[in-house]
Amino acid sequence: MKLLIDHADIGRIRKAYQYYPMDGVTTNPSILAATGRKPFDVLREIRDFIGPEGELHAQVIARDKDGMIRDAHRIAEVLGMETWVKIPSVPEGFAAMRELSAEGLNITATAIYTPMQAYLAAKSGAKYAAVYVNRIDNMGFNGIGVAKEVHDIYRNNGMDAGLLCASFKNSQQVLELAKYGVKAATVGPDVIESFVKNAAITSAVEDFIRDFEKLTGPGKTMSDC
Ligand code: E4P
Repeated sequence: MKLLIDHADIGRIRKAYQYYPMDGVTTNPSILAATGRKPFDVLREIRDFIGPEGELHAQVIARDKDGMIRDAHRIAEVLGMETWVKIPSVPEGFAAMRELSAEGLNITATAIYTPMQAYLAAKSGAKYAAVYVNRIDNMGFNGIGVAKEVHDIYRNNGMDAGLLCASFKNSQQVLELAKYGVKAATVGPDVIESFVKNAAITSAVEDFIRDFEKLTGPGKTMSDC
């Protein structure tokens, strides 16, 4: 399962990349708005940092098909053809997905709350479907269950699309989908920072260091021996 960070602050993105094997960055209009900066300044900064091989996802804003197509072309023009263009999984969005995928753009179908949206998005040419796990839970349904259902629909129909699961509130949700073999998960920095935040792990590592220092002296490591 690929692991992406769902954020636009370059400091948080750099920190995630410093420690973890990240595959890319996803943004949405709300995440961009939270920076208070010009959208393409932020997105260019992220693209420069992750390079052309890193996955960058940026969303169209227009409500109608032609506007979505114009937004998608602008995103590809400024950030590169390899950029993943996020298109909401609504009727106008499916129409835009069909035209843009025929042009060869990478499409991420977003705002997916139901398996039907994900099925239609894949048939319309999207290669990723962003299922909003936690938001589905908050509606009183089972977000992980919906993600697994979409995974099964794609697999059982031989569809050329995968899940980019999104909207997580904890690391267990991420792990459960990794176990199921979904294509990718995009996770906010707070949840990423909780992946290995555990007093038992920290104390085990500290115990090893303390024991070694008893043998060799304070601050000594293998390179001093
Ligand atoms: C991803 O495509 C979504 O924009 C995002 O993950 C939604 O997450 P949220 O529910 O934490 O806002």
